[in-house]
Formats: sequence, structure tokens, C-alpha cells
Amino acid sequence: MQSGRSAAPVVAIAGATGAVGIELLGCLERRNFPLSELRLFASARSVGKTLPFRGQAVPVQELTEKGLEGVNIGLFSAGSSTSKKFAPVAVSKGAVVVDNSSAFRMNGDVPLVVPEINPGAIRAHQGIIANPNCAAIISITPLWPIHRANRIRRLIISTYQAASGAGAAAMAELSESTRAYLDGREYRNTVLPHPYAFNLFSHNTTVDPVTGYNEEETKVIQETRKIFGEPEMRVSATCVRVPVLRAHCVSLTFECERPISPAFVRDSLAGAPGVKIVDDVEKNYFPMPKDASGQDPILVGRIRQDVSDPSGHSIAMFVAGDQLLKGAALNAVQIAEQLL
Ligand code: A2P
Repeated sequence: MQSGRSAAPVVAIAGATGAVGIELLGCLERRNFPLSELRLFASARSVGKTLPFRGQAVPVQELTEKGLEGVNIGLFSAGSSTSKKFAPVAVSKGAVVVDNSSAFRMNGDVPLVVPEINPGAIRAHQGIIANPNCAAIISITPLWPIHRANRIRRLIISTYQAASGAGAAAMAELSESTRAYLDGREYRNTVLPHPYAFNLFSHNTTVDPVTGYNEEETKVIQETRKIFGEPEMRVSATCVRVPVLRAHCVSLTFECERPISPAFVRDSLAGAPGVKIVDDVEKNYFPMPKDASGQDPILVGRIRQDVSDPSGHSIAMFVAGDQLLKGAALNAVQIAEQLL
């Protein structure tokens, strides 16, 4: 796709046909991201497809080393093994890669960035900038304004994660298995490890037999500490997959260094970037996936004192955020905008 703007970067999306890839295209278009050329890459299976961008049908190419020649910004969302293979190639050819996989997130020389929290970390990049885990982004973006004002010393995260986090095939499995269940047909799950319709299950990543935490929980814990710059922060997480298509919810309970009130939390979050308060006690209207889906901000509500801590240092609240947008594509494009 040529637009003739020679000063603007050549942008590539690796994994363009995936659930996040499609949203990357949408974010670039919606946010008027300046680019002189957009290259769309996926696996060989997708060659022959086109995807719409700014009124044109852009062909999808197989991701190859040669195709990365001349790319300035690479937005990668094609899984860890593809990132491990191709992100260093793109960097060696002069690109900066914003990588949505977990391949490089905990590398010491790779910034892990939520632009509302640690945009300054981008400057230290050596070619790769990591986009954090979706559940981590959605959990901690609303916590940052609170943490800055009254340091959080202990945090308990319980997630209710949508199908979208496991990709387009998992979203299709949720839809198809729900239809089959309602029709009384048998359905054999092939993408996720358990029946998904009218069910929920512990996150579909491997459980470490030593710690008892699954990989998703470990990512959320470690990435929270890295992004906040708090390596010793006391964090625990329980990650659960729920039968929702695309927005994650999270229950957050945290203890601060000093006493804290729900009113203070509301004040800290009012007008905070990337966050919107939805907390209508009278109408019992709080953050829901259906309202967060397709929206940029993370919705925050159920803001209340945690009564299990009589010292008054603790708050409980509930958030919902679009896993494909702020949890993935939007955050990556926000990072890329900082590179312009
Ligand atoms: P394809 O559609 O051709 O399989 P999701 O997270 O929704 O499952 O999407 C994964 C994305 O990563 C898709 O765009 C998929 O392309 C792409 N992908 C998967 N494996 C590879 C690979 N080996 N090389 C390039 N792209 C890949």
C-alpha cells in the first residue's frame, strides 16, 4: 500500500490476519497513523487474502526475511516462536519491532511498556519493545495513578479472561460450541482444553508444579513488577478463562502504604489517561465486557473499601477492558506513535 509520503515510516504487521492483527489495522487507520507503506504478513495459509486499509485492499504476504527489507516499524502479533525467529531479523534490517508476544518481555534489555505508565522506558530500546500481557495491561493501567499517589504494597489480581486472548480460533470455538450446546449437538473442542460453552476454567497455560501458578499468572505477576519498576512488589494472581468473546474483567484488591478511601481512588482515576469510571451503585451498573468491547478506555467500578483490612489501607475494585484493543493492538500502536 503506497501513499507517497516518503518521510513517513514503512510499517509491517506480522500476524495481520489474527484477532489482534485485524485490530492493529483498525487502530492504525482510526488514529491516522502516518505511514508510507503498509505490509501485511501472516503464514503461507493466508497468501491470496486481502485486508481493507484506508479504502484499499492490501494483499497478505507470507512472512519471510526478504519481506522485512526496508521496514521501519514492525508490529508483531503472530505468536512467540514467530517473534523469536523474525523480530531479530527485522531489527537487523533496521526496523524497530513492537512485539505483542511474550518472547522478549522479561529480557533485561527490552522495555516492557504501557504508555500511560512508563513511556520513558521506550528510549532505552535496542530494537525491540515488548507489549505486555493483556491481563497485565488491563489490571495495572488503572492502578498506576493510585500507586503514584499512595504506593501499593500488596496486590491480588483475579481475572475473568475472554476467548480473544487465545486468538481468533478460540473466539470461533466459543461461538460454535455455544451454538452446538443450544442446538443439543455434540461439540468436540480442539482449540481450548475444556468445553467452553456455559463453562469456565483455570487459564489454559501450563501450571508450574513448584509454585502452583500457571504461566499466565506468572506473566501478570512478573510484568506488573517490571512495568511499575517495583521488583519486590507483593503480587498474586488467579487467571480464569470465561465464556466471553473479547473483553477481560479483573477483580483487584490492593493494600497501600498509607490509609486510602474509595473517594480518593475515584479522584485519582477521574481524568486519568486510558481509564473511565463506571460505578453506578444505585443502578447496580458496573464494568462489563459488553460495554468495554470495542472501547479504548479501561472501565473501572465497584470501588470500595476492602473490609478485610480494618487498618483502612486497602481497596477492592473491578475493571473491564477490551483485550484486543488496550490489552493488545491499541497499546502497541500507542507505543509505535512514540517512535514517530
Ligand atoms: P494465519 O492466519 O495465516 O494462520 P491468532 O492469534 O488470532 O490465532 O492469529 C495468529 C496470527 O499469526 C495469524 O495472523 C496467523 O496467520 C499468524 N501466524 C501464525 N503462524 C505464523 C507463522 N509461522 N508465520 C507468520 N504468521 C503466522
